[in-house]
Amino acid sequence: MKSLISELSNKIKTRNAQIGIIGMGYVGIPLGLEFVKAGFSVIGFDKDKKRVDDINCGNQVMKHISSDLMIEFIRNGKATTDFTKMKTIDCLIICVPTPLDKHEQPDMTYVESAANEIAKNLSKGQLIILESTTYPGTTREIIKPILEKSKLKAGEDFFLAYSPEREDPGNKKFSVSKIPKVMGGYSDNCLQITGELYETIVSETVKVSSMETAESTKLMENIFRAVNIAMVNELKLVLDRMGVNIWEVIDAAKTKPFGFMPFYPGPGMGGHCIPIDPFYLSWKAKEFNTEARFIELAGEINRKMTENIAHRVGKALNDDKKSIHGSKILVVGLAYKKDIDDIRESPAIKIIDLLNYKGANIDYYDPFVNTFRDLRSIDLLAENIKKYDAVLITTDHTKTDYDLIGKYASLVIDTRNIMSHVKKPKARIIMA
Ligand SMILES: NC(=O)c1ccc[n+]([C@@H]2O[C@H](COP(=O)([O-])OP(=O)(O)OC[C@H]3O[C@@H](n4cnc5c(N)ncnc54)[C@H](O)[C@@H]3O)[C@@H](O)[C@H]2O)c1
Repeated sequence: MKSLISELSNKIKTRNAQIGIIGMGYVGIPLGLEFVKAGFSVIGFDKDKKRVDDINCGNQVMKHISSDLMIEFIRNGKATTDFTKMKTIDCLIICVPTPLDKHEQPDMTYVESAANEIAKNLSKGQLIILESTTYPGTTREIIKPILEKSKLKAGEDFFLAYSPEREDPGNKKFSVSKIPKVMGGYSDNCLQITGELYETIVSETVKVSSMETAESTKLMENIFRAVNIAMVNELKLVLDRMGVNIWEVIDAAKTKPFGFMPFYPGPGMGGHCIPIDPFYLSWKAKEFNTEARFIELAGEINRKMTENIAHRVGKALNDDKKSIHGSKILVVGLAYKKDIDDIRESPAIKIIDLLNYKGANIDYYDPFVNTFRDLRSIDLLAENIKKYDAVLITTDHTKTDYDLIGKYASLVIDTRNIMSHVKKPKARIIMA
């Protein structure tokens, strides 16, 4: 192992190590780009042929990653569906999805399939890192046995580690290189070489004592968000009844210079992380005959927010002597958060389904999402806005013209407090 580690270490130092990223999505692409920028040659492995072709043509595959960056990627990187090319890669990083299945349990099929492909092509001296968000024990209990089907042994013939991705897509302040990288290794050597690799792309590495600690760290971060968002969502409902504006309360509370961190209410949990990852831990907890009650409660409260918003829309229309059934509603913002095109688990979609079920006619506007099901994003023009009985703001994209909405809509239900920035709107504004 000593010679294997010095060999790989040398390759990393001289940038001769070949980097392979498995799963060229929201996480894999920015990560691959960082390695290209650091001077490595990178191969992205993906099962999706269209994604692979788009990357190799330098096409923009995500709205928040410009085509200039994609062109920068193919300067020294390329994508492929040919997994046999893994044989000659020195460091393979797994960034495939970890969703929940239809029973709300961890769906490890993507991780298992990626590990099986690696096992078929595993070579001595390779470093294998899992970055997908998952429950503590995954790397040891799932990845390691699959890789060892190759007859090579973790910690002896190949290096194994877990390092969670903490990417926040669309966040211009914190790109991959500026976010400290947490990592845990199967052995001391595994951890050391993983650190050497990531030190080439990030300004700070945080080495922890085990892969399970690293796996739990990522979950803790997301559980922290899920629970605090639930807390503030619940407070919103309580304060609303008392006629107190939660947004004003948060603004005042955050002036406290210590011991407080602002979280904001919204139409419900969205995205690939907060509505999913916490339940990886509550699922695993059951194996140890224990419960994670905060997680379950936060999920329950956050899920209820979508129903609450649909209810608020109905009440607001009722005040205008209209019913949801037959009314025309414009939903502004489909993405689960501002300034990105990701609609996975978006609360806007759940609210649309609820309103559709109650007989509403829905259109939407989202500058990042051109089409959705059989709908196309409308043009946000005065004559279009006027046509709707209500405008429901579900995502506060920066690019949206809220002044125009305030001027031409009759009723606006605002779940993001964005209309508070519009001076003297003509529309009736309901904070929801
Ligand atoms: N999106 C985020 O903001 C974010 C942030 C931190 C962590 N994560 C975690 O990172 C992981 C990846 O998330 P993502 O958002 O990048 O997913 P994604 O859906 O954007 O991309 C995943 C890619 O993997 C490919 N893929 C699936 N199975 C494959 C296989 N067996 N072999 C090769 N390619 C395969 C898919 O075709 C897709 O292109 C998840 O575990 C997620 O929880 C995501």
